[in-house]
Amino acid sequence: MPGSNPRFLEKAQTLPVDEVFLDLEDSVAPSAKEEARKNVVAALREGDWSGKTRVVRVNDLTTQWTYRDVIEIVEGAGEFLDCVILPKVQDPTEVVWLDTLLTQIEKTMGYDVGRIGIEAQIENARGLVNADAIAGSSKRLETLVFGPADFMASINMRTLVVGEQPPGYVEGDAYHYILMRLLMAARMHDLQVIDGPYLQIRDIEGFKRAARRSAALGFDGKWVLHPSQVDAANEVFSPSQEDYDHAELILEAYEYYTTVEKRGAVMLGDEMIDEASRKMALVVAAKGRAAGLARTKSFTP
Ligand code: GLV
Ligand code: MG
Repeated sequence: MPGSNPRFLEKAQTLPVDEVFLDLEDSVAPSAKEEARKNVVAALREGDWSGKTRVVRVNDLTTQWTYRDVIEIVEGAGEFLDCVILPKVQDPTEVVWLDTLLTQIEKTMGYDVGRIGIEAQIENARGLVNADAIAGSSKRLETLVFGPADFMASINMRTLVVGEQPPGYVEGDAYHYILMRLLMAARMHDLQVIDGPYLQIRDIEGFKRAARRSAALGFDGKWVLHPSQVDAANEVFSPSQEDYDHAELILEAYEYYTTVEKRGAVMLGDEMIDEASRKMALVVAAKGRAAGLARTKSFTP
């Protein structure tokens, strides 16, 4: 949500999303940056954000705004803030810089040191090539975020529609390598990994198409830019009822066979399950539980 628009900052509080980020970066005009900081502090302090992770995206480190963004937001509303998104991260030293500044502000203000997390947004080739080092650069780091619009621009990809394949490329998925690269870097350091925006806000099918791609690979979520995208995102990133039931069934059956019957590789219907099946089932079951799904099938030996 653009920090320069108080009406949107109100609206964001009512949406069924897991996280809200209040933006000081690219959705805010240069002339409105200072005003936006004040709006964001007020919205964090006075708004009702219950049930949502509260995040602010500051400007990137090539600009003159970053340090004041961090100081004003964290001094003004640090108790009401969960994470800071640092955009266009190219190098681990940028994250270390933010970590150090946060520590100094936390000490000055008497906040718990280390509570505020960092999300690093990767938006160009240098950031992607350095993704492993960036992902391991700070204990505060919680998430890597893909920034497809800036990324496509930075590598000269010939497209104007973010999230769609570049016209003329019919061989595969132009995003596959980038998404996988980010996924590996994030998982190597036990971080979350989040897909970026889809800008055609009226094209819900297009949004779902892009979202399904990262959801299938294992991404933890995707940005939404408009209320119209929220239901689609929640749907795509939640497992189907069928998959959720299947996962819970595997967990229950595996528990029974390994403890009661003391067997490690067993048949569940037509499927052989073992310890690796349990791990795969845990992933799907955890996503289903987080999405509030309820079981409709139970296991009988
Ligand atoms: C988001 O910041 C993007 O560049 O896609
Ligand atoms: Mg960007």
